[in-house]
Amino acid sequence: MTCPGLGRQTVADDRFRPHQPKVCASVTKRLFIKTYGCQMNVYDSERMADILAPLGYAETTSPDDADMVILNTCHIREKAAEKVFSELGRLRKLKDRRRTDGGDMVIGVAGCVAQAEGEEIARRAPYVDIVFGPQSYQHLPEMVTRAARAGGQTVLETDFDVEDKFDRLPEVATKNGPAAFLTIQEGCDKFCAFCVVPYTRGAEFSRPASDILAEARRLVAAGSCEITLLGQNVNAWHGAAPDGGAEWALGRLIRELAEIDGIARIRYTTSHPLEMTADLIAAHAEVPALMPYLHLPVQSGSDRILGAMNRRHDRETYFRIVDKLRDARPDIALSSDFIVGFPGETDRDFADTLNLVTRVTYAQAYSFKYSPRPGTPAAVETVQVEEAVKDERLQSLQALINAQQAAFNADMVGRTLPVLLERAGRHAGQLVGRSPYMQSVHLDAPESLRNQIVEVTIDQGRANSLSGRLTTEHGPVAKQDTGTNVAHVA
Ligand code: 5AD
Ligand code: SF4
Repeated sequence: MTCPGLGRQTVADDRFRPHQPKVCASVTKRLFIKTYGCQMNVYDSERMADILAPLGYAETTSPDDADMVILNTCHIREKAAEKVFSELGRLRKLKDRRRTDGGDMVIGVAGCVAQAEGEEIARRAPYVDIVFGPQSYQHLPEMVTRAARAGGQTVLETDFDVEDKFDRLPEVATKNGPAAFLTIQEGCDKFCAFCVVPYTRGAEFSRPASDILAEARRLVAAGSCEITLLGQNVNAWHGAAPDGGAEWALGRLIRELAEIDGIARIRYTTSHPLEMTADLIAAHAEVPALMPYLHLPVQSGSDRILGAMNRRHDRETYFRIVDKLRDARPDIALSSDFIVGFPGETDRDFADTLNLVTRVTYAQAYSFKYSPRPGTPAAVETVQVEEAVKDERLQSLQALINAQQAAFNADMVGRTLPVLLERAGRHAGQLVGRSPYMQSVHLDAPESLRNQIVEVTIDQGRANSLSGRLTTEHGPVAKQDTGTNVAHVA
């Protein structure tokens, strides 16, 4: 399958990433967006750029010369707000300098820190012009206008009208790379005891299937052949069928997306174990475009802690789901999130987590020290775990996960994998792409193969990536040979 033209890159990990610049026809003002946190924020930042483009804003790579700077923030783990305030301190100096030079800089704070701490931001950093939450950025043009008239007062907008947001967003205008994100669901009703998401992103909302299918077609037309469906609780997605028939769930949506000509790869993230329905698991067996990789956070391996976390499932339920997924798709690679040092976690509870990891075996996983988030039930628990104990547990969990990841990568050596080439590598003539299992793959390949899926023979499996060589002279593989089924992977 050839993924047609366009060179924007997508980095699919959940670390901070600067937003990639895009070009607008009538450029008069420069926009810099700094994106923290999850892929949902990456998607939101792209939509903010789309909304501001008609106002003459085009993205730039540095805040130094920007007319508008937006920090799209994440509140999920510790010190988020403090990081934002220190970044704002730096921006204030830039703004002052611009004013001394006769110009100005609009400063905006978006995302979950804005939602949770909007008033505090306006109080502590009054030079911030606009503060808006994840469900309010469709009003950016009005907010910019209001800020210009506000005489230095911070404009604050933290409404929760997610339906209005998707109705009012412009159609995807950004030039996408071969791998694109598509938000299908927002918010969360699960209320895990440690998590701020239900408070910052609000209640669960699913976009209608017809809107999602239309956006997917536009992404394909703009050059993408891999689509990652996004949602805080993505597998809780359910939507009205386009023909007015019975509601669809995620399995059905994936099957319909796979029918769109030009879509070679589908992924979805992040999933809750309780929403892994039989139909969704069956889709992993039946839809070749659905990639054999699933991020399925479990958080802890201890039933006691899972209960205290209000996860609403136990470890046996998780094991059963993993078994069913592996029955459906034997080569599926699993990833997870873990929290160590949740209030009350004992050595024994932590041993259960290590034991779960050993039993499941992950291709990769993220692990975090518990950090109390203001307003969440766990934050007021009196039995907090000591920092030194958290550090120790995190180290041993990460050692186990890293060993599993290294073994998973080493196991790829000698195999032929279909790789979607997404971006330039570190040295001339090198391209970097993704395997079906989400590994970064480095290889020497001509630029003409960028944005295409090619067969790569893997020569080396490293801690975090693979390297290999083009298997054939022919380059791109045909759609039916994208190796999305294990039978096609040597
Ligand atoms: N402390 C530590 N980790 C957290 N996460 C969410 N909230 C917290 C918290 N208060 C982690 C969970 C989640 C991931 C996105 O971040 O593991 O799955
Ligand atoms: Fe947070 Fe739990 Fe909802 Fe995930 S399922 S977003 S961890 S409350």
